[in-house]
Amino acid sequence: MPRPTGSALMEKIVSLCKRRGFIFQSSEIYGGLNGFWDYGPLGVELKNNLRDRWWDAMVRNPPTGPDGHELDIVGLDCAIVSHPRIWEASGHVESFADPMVDCKKCKARFRADQLDEMPCPNKPSKLAGQTEQCELTEPRAFNLMFKTYVGALEDPSSVAWLRPETAQGMFYNFKNVVDTTRVKVPFGIAQIGKGFRNEITPRNYIFRSREFEMMELEFFCHPSEASDWYQFWRQARYDFWCSLGLAGERLRLRDHAPEELAHYARETGGCADVEYAFPFSGDKGFSELEGIAYRSNFDLSQHTKHSGVRLEYFDPQRNERYVPHVIEPAAGLTRGLLAVICEAYDVDESRPSPELMRFDPRLSPIKAGFFPLVNKDGLPEIAEKLYRHFKRSVGPAQFDEKQSIGKRYARMDEAGTPFCITVDGQSKEDQTATVRHRDTGHQVRVALDQVNGYIAERVGGRK
Ligand code: GAP
Repeated sequence: MPRPTGSALMEKIVSLCKRRGFIFQSSEIYGGLNGFWDYGPLGVELKNNLRDRWWDAMVRNPPTGPDGHELDIVGLDCAIVSHPRIWEASGHVESFADPMVDCKKCKARFRADQLDEMPCPNKPSKLAGQTEQCELTEPRAFNLMFKTYVGALEDPSSVAWLRPETAQGMFYNFKNVVDTTRVKVPFGIAQIGKGFRNEITPRNYIFRSREFEMMELEFFCHPSEASDWYQFWRQARYDFWCSLGLAGERLRLRDHAPEELAHYARETGGCADVEYAFPFSGDKGFSELEGIAYRSNFDLSQHTKHSGVRLEYFDPQRNERYVPHVIEPAAGLTRGLLAVICEAYDVDESRPSPELMRFDPRLSPIKAGFFPLVNKDGLPEIAEKLYRHFKRSVGPAQFDEKQSIGKRYARMDEAGTPFCITVDGQSKEDQTATVRHRDTGHQVRVALDQVNGYIAERVGGRK
């Protein structure tokens, strides 16, 4: 069976992710809730590893700027519910909406701009609106923000919103960050956290969900340098995804056409997407993974206007007061996770159990599996001791003494574990074990006291 494509590939991926505990449908025992997902024991590790790579690449070890200096980027973690006027200032209350149509006959709801890809629920061989029974309404705007109430009273004065993006937290905290740290323009504020959008048609697994995680950077700079910084981040963000193994024909960087530009990028003309060819991307071929936008001074100016607090910067080097311009690379963490999973999934027919996940070892949820070849002769004790030492000093690992060695290797291949260490009869004689490489199935003998170092070097763990 070669690696399938399209919907067949997606089915295989969804099935493996459920079987091995990467992703579960949320509230499954109650029939599930459309657009919500839970991350299982392997999924949460994989997601955290991707999150940590981003945080490391953006905040702890940001890229070197064009002038050779390391960039100044600080982190933030803001509340999910914030003052409702924030969403008035940002434009979300008025215009964060998708055009929606209803079918009066079957009561299904569709995004008007996706009608050419949505099957009719009653006759899936036809598109929505194309059967004689379909009766679609005119499109109307549907605001995607989830509404809630703060406090005991459910009246208009207590309305609040679950944030649909993390970005606004960086704008309304701009003054706090400038006043409490030593950052100087150009600098960035980064945040990772949940976003909520009441999508009309959540679909394609975790790609478009109603609760998801985002990784956003707001980079503040002098207006005269903003175009150069936009070009810088556009390339840096593409390079980031390449560095995680997504490089190749399934990844591309695409500039927006003028008619696609968001309102805040219309004047600057700066907006590009890093796109990935997901198995469901269909005729379009690619779908958005991350957007890089030159937002001008739109957000700081809006919050200045609505809050009455001036969000400006006095630049001592230029002796000039101005509203910084912003470059925003905004990525989906959960969408990124799906791209990483799709890229890693492979089929190797030479193996008894051919499915495997070829994750970049730095992202793998389990770094190594430790096995005794047989469950006797003191081999389990040696393997378990190695495992405990590795877990404490290098990273997540598993000890497994059940089933045949082939089945244990197959389980680890499906989990994307890059190395398996097997203790056998020879281990007792010469103090070595076999180390099996996931991608090739190739095995080498390594001294027991060298195993940690050998693997740590290859998975980016502690030595
Ligand atoms: N602050 C800018 C902003 O929010 P966006 O393009 O709407 O931009 C950023 O969202 C990223 O968040 C997208 O590139 C995508 O990866 C992810 N994203 C957006 N909506 C999503 C959804 N419903 N489910 C999963 N990920 C989503």
